[in-house]
Amino acid sequence: VQAFFQPKLLQGKRVLVTAGPTYEAIDAVRGITNLSSGKMGYAVARAALEAGAEVTLISGPVCLEPPRAAKLVNVVSARDMLAAVKKEISRIDIFMSVAAVADYRAISTNKQKTKKTNDKVMLEFIPNPDILEHVATLPRPPFCVGFAAETENLEKNAEAKRRKKKLPLLAANLAQDAIGSDENTLTLFDDEGKNYLPRALKIEQARRLIKHIALLYEKQAE
Ligand code: CTP
Ligand code: CA
Repeated sequence: VQAFFQPKLLQGKRVLVTAGPTYEAIDAVRGITNLSSGKMGYAVARAALEAGAEVTLISGPVCLEPPRAAKLVNVVSARDMLAAVKKEISRIDIFMSVAAVADYRAISTNKQKTKKTNDKVMLEFIPNPDILEHVATLPRPPFCVGFAAETENLEKNAEAKRRKKKLPLLAANLAQDAIGSDENTLTLFDDEGKNYLPRALKIEQARRLIKHIALLYEKQAE
């Protein structure tokens, strides 16, 4: 009964979540992408909805049922994702960048299917824009939450990433603990230090993360 009368943690907050991989075309039928199922980002969107937030979910190509209460925007490439984020960002209170954005794209693409030869091929790539960094360095940024997938040196890499992108909060996991799984092990890094979230279903981790965000968000709003 008590819980019913308590306002929800993110009641009325406008939350933007990016999720899934991006896909960067090389030709009409090929491209490069990152290993990402989108499960964590979709869980985060669900947990934010449960917490009373209004949620926009910008998703790369995944095979998941989207949460029906969220506004869904489907994108393919990192540049599409950045454009979709820019459209939404001015009205957003909390930005959660869960997407595994491809760091590079091919310098040139072939509209047709490239035919094979017996020669060796060279592909040239250029860096994609960093969507989270763009948002976090806006003049009046929303509360920004980054994600980091590492394969080694989790703490050192995560803290360096958090500082470089000027983030109040970063959730880090080992790629081998997370990719494709329904479960995840997370460590949260913020100005106060770190918090270890022991292995649990991604939806449970997302709920714990939302609780932590709500606390920090209240503090910085004071
Ligand atoms: N990110 C982003 N746009 C990019 C690359 C990353 O928004 N072009 C975001 C991710 O959504 C994530 C955070 O930045 O929240 C960290 O992504 P990650 O790939 O772990 O870090 P990078 O800064 O790309 O560094 P690296 O891949 O070299 O570890
Ligand atoms: Ca990256």
